Amino acid sequence: MTDCQGDAATSPMELYEKLTAQGDLVRTLKSTKADKAEIDAAVQLLLKLKVDYKQAAGQDYKAGCPPSENSVTSENGLPADNDDNAGDEVNPWNVSTNNAKGVDYDKLIVRFGSSKIDQGLVDRIEKVTGQTPHHFLRRGIFFSHRDMHQVLDTYEKNKPFFLYTGRGPSSQAMHVGHLIPFIFTKWLQSVFDIPLVVQLTDDEKYLWKDLTLEQCHQFARENAKDIIACGFDINKTFIFSDLDYMGASPQFYRNVVKIQKHVTFNQVKGIFGFTDSDCIGKISFPAIQAAPSFSNSFPHIFGDKKDIQCLIPCAIDQDPYFRMTRDVAPRIGYPKPALLHSTFFPALQGAQTKMSASDANSSIFLTDTAKQIKNKINKYAFSGGKDTIEEHRKFGGNVDVDVSFMYLTFFLEDDQKLEKIREDYTSGALPTGELKKILIETLQPIIAEHQARRKEITDETVEKFMTPRPLNFNQ
Ligand code: TYM
Repeated sequence: MTDCQGDAATSPMELYEKLTAQGDLVRTLKSTKADKAEIDAAVQLLLKLKVDYKQAAGQDYKAGCPPSENSVTSENGLPADNDDNAGDEVNPWNVSTNNAKGVDYDKLIVRFGSSKIDQGLVDRIEKVTGQTPHHFLRRGIFFSHRDMHQVLDTYEKNKPFFLYTGRGPSSQAMHVGHLIPFIFTKWLQSVFDIPLVVQLTDDEKYLWKDLTLEQCHQFARENAKDIIACGFDINKTFIFSDLDYMGASPQFYRNVVKIQKHVTFNQVKGIFGFTDSDCIGKISFPAIQAAPSFSNSFPHIFGDKKDIQCLIPCAIDQDPYFRMTRDVAPRIGYPKPALLHSTFFPALQGAQTKMSASDANSSIFLTDTAKQIKNKINKYAFSGGKDTIEEHRKFGGNVDVDVSFMYLTFFLEDDQKLEKIREDYTSGALPTGELKKILIETLQPIIAEHQARRKEITDETVEKFMTPRPLNFNQ
């Protein structure tokens, strides 16, 4: 067993005391200018204790505020109160929940007003395409949609539609979570044989992050390589940087302005939580993320056709942009884009947050070496196992909170193997160390193969993908 086991036997008060002592230690190490590695190790332990504390006490750690009497833990170390999802936050900038099992996606569907991807829809996709549904669909990883039946009606009538997805290039390296929508988009492109536009919002990252325009623009090109490495068809895919394409395409800009005219400050405040002190770039940005949903933003692909149906695969954090887009579309004479939403690939430390590039230790990056992947999983992947081998064998592990198992649901394609792992881990036959080993051996080759494909991508190939040009598209 590793040092990243759930602290099932530790009470909130004991954890609170450990955290207070660890906080003191970090402060002492910093003030005495101790060795960097020592400080980093102490900070890591502090972060882990905070996650454990939140899980055990159902609240964030606050110095000087011991846990309340009623923060009772149940057998598995989770708070007994079963409405842990009451405070779930899901928006483009933050994903968090108190529940170690992650966001309650059924509740989110109700809150966001989308529809569940039920077995009927999965069966229909199989019937219409004649392909076995991708395991992301079979396992409910893509779990929610807007108007997907309408897209299938369009396809059945042999009418065209196109795919649109995107990436905010905030750093050189993307993480494994970012791959999820792109892997799925690649599958959709192959089975439906349709064009795809990929927006790289370098403008967005400049407005939101402490980065220069040049950095964001350069990250866009670097990230384009990772996207291309997912296997998109060069004859059917256009990737663009907003900083380049906005100025080069009058049609795109016209759509941005149309959208801007039809959405008020009050509406974006309501949807995105902007305040009076946010810069005006942020306030008008949603119109730029909305514009690619409309086919006449890409005259080199679709000519002047403004009514080609768009389908957007993304994680559900991006939905606020497209709620706004769908609201504005009929008012400017365009069809509403349809959506397919995925769940979040969790942070290594647990499903209370999504994997995020801003916390390096919460993420496995597409640039990580086999050794880094192994070390990160062994050191940080939150375990649903018990504290000792004996207890684990007796009581079994909890796959609902175990990050390694969750990662396998995304990346281990074999349904039977996955089921066997679930059974063995739950019964206690499979210890945490072995589960982590299976995950490491599953992920290492996937990342290595991605890196090898990326290495083959030349600047000329990137240039070609990013040049506005006609695509193979049967109208
Ligand atoms: P960005 O760069 O934050 O994320 C890129 C895509 O990855 C999804 N994503 C995740 N999916 C699963 N698990 C995670 N942990 C995880 N983290 C991120 C995001 O939902 C997204 O699909 N503003 C956007 C860029 C954008 C865009 C779009 C995205 C522009 N147009 C159209 C989707 C569709 C952004 O910053 O994404």
